Order: sequence, then structure tokens, then C-alpha cells
Amino acid sequence: IYKSTLLKYQGWYITGYEETLKVLKDSRFHSRPPIPAFSRNYENIRRIQENMMLFTTPQHHRRLRSLVTKFFTPNIVNECRPFIEETVDELIDQVSCRGTMEVVSDYAFPLASSVIAKILGVPVKDYSLFKEWTATFIQSIDFTRSPKTLGNSRKATEEIIAYFKKIIREREQEPKEDLISKLIQEKQREEKLSYDELIATCVLLLIAGHETTVNLISSSIFLLIQNPRQLEKLQDDPELITTAIEEFLRFESPAQLIARTASEDIIINEAVIRKGEQVYLFLGAANRDSRKFRNSHQLEITRNPNPHLAFGHSRHFCLGSSLARLEAKIAIERLLQNVQNLQAVDGNGHYRKIIGFKSLVELHVT
Ligand code: HEM
Repeated sequence: IYKSTLLKYQGWYITGYEETLKVLKDSRFHSRPPIPAFSRNYENIRRIQENMMLFTTPQHHRRLRSLVTKFFTPNIVNECRPFIEETVDELIDQVSCRGTMEVVSDYAFPLASSVIAKILGVPVKDYSLFKEWTATFIQSIDFTRSPKTLGNSRKATEEIIAYFKKIIREREQEPKEDLISKLIQEKQREEKLSYDELIATCVLLLIAGHETTVNLISSSIFLLIQNPRQLEKLQDDPELITTAIEEFLRFESPAQLIARTASEDIIINEAVIRKGEQVYLFLGAANRDSRKFRNSHQLEITRNPNPHLAFGHSRHFCLGSSLARLEAKIAIERLLQNVQNLQAVDGNGHYRKIIGFKSLVELHVT
């Protein structure tokens, strides 16, 4: 834990496992929108972020989370299995005659966005729009953001709000069996959800629901290629897929960095964090802490127990963790069943230069 005085990134940086866990468990640390000081004019981004369960007040968080969480229980998520399997098989079919595939855009992205689009009830064919919006949104909340990325993000946010307003209008007139229609019912029946919260929830689910899952699926495949012994182990014993997924989450955590604000003076490991100060939690580093994980920089797909923090912890623990695990499991299982000798095209596979997410630019495999 140390304090940075760099103007743009002022606050406490926490990289250790136990310290990260302490902060996540401590309700005096609040999750707040990561809006930088130079973006006072970006009201539309701020409003959407403030109405997301991830960044709202503890009281609104409880209400919003309890409304949405029932749609993401392991049993409900398991109902998506046939759709996920069908989508994976179609994607593999599309590339199998080519002999090569670009994992991110041919496989991970279309899978994750089709699944969340199907759950929300937005047209799957719109996924090229989601890709653009997510990319700009992600950049705007990253440390490496610039005024230009914030400008793009404002435009993307306006487009995404307009998009969901249109879908909500359509579902209000003609409800379907999708999540948006169900949330509208909650809003109308008990006034439990405001209009801004409904839009913010749709945006959060669309963005949180696929960017990190794309990262998990693509990094997992890359890790297996980089670690042929582990790949062989998994091919010999496909049952290891469950512990393997947990290890991929630990080793290349898709969400690398999250933030909190101290609501009062709090002492962590003798450091006094003052009220209002920002705390940055480096989940990727905590998950490689050698005081917690034996051989922490080694990929071991049999690692068990594996109490990683890739999905966060406590109040804001990832709501989509069961869905993400299921998608990754099916995507990797089916790929290994179909491809005998998985290899990357030479020199391939590099990560984006952003701090907040472990995100592969592209990965060509044969
Ligand atoms: C929260 C990671 C997939 C929806 C979180 C948090 C993390 C995370 C670290 C906690 C953030 C914090 O405490 O500040 C991941 C990873 C995923 C993934 C690594 C994939 C591998 C998903 C999916 C969905 C989803 C598929 C939705 C369908 C959410 C929501 C929250 C959240 C709504 C906010 C929960 C709250 O504030 O109570 N996720 N996520 N995530 N995630 Fe995920």
C-alpha cells in the first residue's frame, strides 16, 4: 500500500491480497464513478454512472442489486446453456473451413455479446455497435484516458442511451420474455426502479456483461497456448476445466483495477487513509501475491483452493460471475474438442496498453 501524489492519479495504491480484501470487505469504502477532475462537463456520463448499482449509494445499491440478481442465479443462468452451446458450435463451424481464426473477434466477442444481447433482449445483429461503445467506455474509465477519449466516450454514451430508450419504448408497448421487459414490469408495478436507473442498468449489464468475458475467453486460450504442458493436462482430463477457469481468472484477471473512496478516516496497515481519498485496488496484482498463492506467477490449472479476487468481493461481488464462468467453460471445452493442435500464429497475441483491463488486441490461432 502506498500513496501516489501524481496529479492525475492521486490516491492510495493497494497491490497486496490481504489489504485488497480488507478494503473490499470494509463498508466504509464506497464505490464511486471514476470520473476524472477534468471532466466536469460530462454530465451525461456522470448521470448514467451514478445510477449504476456499481457506483450508487449503499442504500440504492441494495435495492437495485436485489432487483437484478434474481435473473443471474446459477439455476437461471444454466437455462442459457443450450443457447451458449449452439452459438459456440456455429462460431466454430464458421471458421473451421478456414483453418485459422482470430480468437477475439471471431470467437470470444461474438459469443459474449450474443449471450448478453439475448438475455437483455436487444438484437444480436447490433453487436458491432456494442463493440464500439464498450471500447470507448472502457477507455474513458481507464487511467490512460485523455480528454480525447472522454470526448469519444460522451458521444458513445449519448448513442447508447438513445439506443436503450428506443428499445425500452418498444418493450413498453409490446413486452417480451427478456430482461428489459421484466425490469420495465418491476418499474411499473412497484416503482422500484427509476427510468434513469433502468437505462443505467441496461448499460452496465451490456458493458460489464461482455468486455470482461471476452477478455477471459481470449486470455484463457492464449494462456493454454503459452503453457503447452497445462494444455496437455486439460486435454487428457477435460474435468479439470472448472479449476482451470478459476486459474485463468486469477492469472490474467480480466478486470485488473477497481476503485473505492474512503467515507471516513480509515487505517489500513498503519496507513491513515483520509476521508474522501481514492483507493485503487490492483486485483491483478493481488491475485499474484506470493504471500497468498504458492508459485503465484505460475499457471497451475489444478490449483485448488483458489480464492482469487477476479470478481471482486463482498457487496459488489460480480453479479454475472456464474454466467461468465459458464460461457468460458463451454467456449474452451468445445474449442479443445474441435482443434487438436492449438497454436498461435507466430508473434501473435499482445495485450492493450491500458491498466484497468487485461484485454488482448487480437490472437490469430491455427
Ligand atoms: C461487478 C469482474 C462478467 C455484471 C464486477 C466486479 C468485478 C467484476 C471485479 C466488482 C467491481 C467492484 O467491486 O468495483 C467481472 C469479470 C467478468 C465479469 C472478471 C468476466 C470474466 C460479468 C457479466 C455480467 C457482469 C457476464 C453480467 C451479465 C456485473 C455487475 C456488477 C459487476 C452488474 C456490479 C455489481 C454490484 O455493484 O453489486 N464484475 N465481471 N459481470 N459485474 Fe462483473
